[in-house]
Amino acid sequence: MDVEALEQAALAAVAAARSTDAIEAVRVEYLGRKSALKLALREVRDRETGMTLNAARERVESAVAAREAELQRAELDRRLSEERVDVTLPLGGYPRGRLHLITQIRREVEDVFLGLGYRVVDGREVETTHYNFDGLNFPPGHPARSRLHSLFIDDDTLLRTETSPSQIRTMEAEQPPIYIVSLGRVYRRDTPDATHTPVFHQVEGLAVDEGITLADLTGTLDFLLKALFGQGRRTQFRTHYFPFTEPSIEAYVSCHVCDGAGCPVCRHSGWIEVGGAGMVDPKLFEFVGYDAERYSGFAFGWGLERIAMLRHEFPDLRELWRNDLRFSRQF
Ligand code: DAH
Repeated sequence: MDVEALEQAALAAVAAARSTDAIEAVRVEYLGRKSALKLALREVRDRETGMTLNAARERVESAVAAREAELQRAELDRRLSEERVDVTLPLGGYPRGRLHLITQIRREVEDVFLGLGYRVVDGREVETTHYNFDGLNFPPGHPARSRLHSLFIDDDTLLRTETSPSQIRTMEAEQPPIYIVSLGRVYRRDTPDATHTPVFHQVEGLAVDEGITLADLTGTLDFLLKALFGQGRRTQFRTHYFPFTEPSIEAYVSCHVCDGAGCPVCRHSGWIEVGGAGMVDPKLFEFVGYDAERYSGFAFGWGLERIAMLRHEFPDLRELWRNDLRFSRQF
């Protein structure tokens, strides 16, 4: 066996290797267990041949190691320069959050009334039966007073069933003129279905001043309805009944789907009911110590979920609570 020729071939292969993979192949070929050199070493019988072979093996080994280190450094350098991170590049796609639809509508309503010179006041979610019922002229035995319909904490305390108690609290604390809206959660003992959830939101409005008339109420609600549903909508008011208003009305907006012609969305009436309102019953003024001869006022209370559903035409109220991003992202 020509050890010198073998060593020359090995060293030439080492010099020709251009990658760490290639140098590994050279190592296997010239120094691996089945290489000519290793096989020859295993067969050695005399000391001199052994020394020659070992010396050649050591030279090839150190040549492979040196070349390998060189190639590793070069590959690292190349990776570092190619994979450089440019920290000044703008980031493309941070996901952006948005306000929940109910929060958006809440702010829209607040903006409308702030623009009309109203104040936004906070109510209480835990109320007494005095403010939730008695002060609002609910008769004894009214169904809403029942534990079947409302969520009581004790005999005199409950989760408010409407935002109307904020009317009484505001009138007790202040003298007219009063122009306020109060928005927040209300609670009813309802089983969730497509049009009911036990927690929902209302906006309450109250205006008390000298000379306030029903025309002020309908004008204000007309303004609000057009801001929420579009300037092209028509509005209509029909008589109704609430214990705390006299007369009481219910506000309707022309159907946005058929524009009044009649379709399944408006149950072929052309009109969609939005919520209640009325002239403050003088009894409430007596309760809070206002001069009912001098002052008059109007009030209204509407559900924000209902506004959302009517405006965006989704069929199930519960979507607002599911937090499925495929739903929420549409608004
Ligand atoms: N509180 C009523 C309800 O929850 C809504 C309402 C109707 C509020 C007429 C008012 C009003 O202030 O004047 O159904």
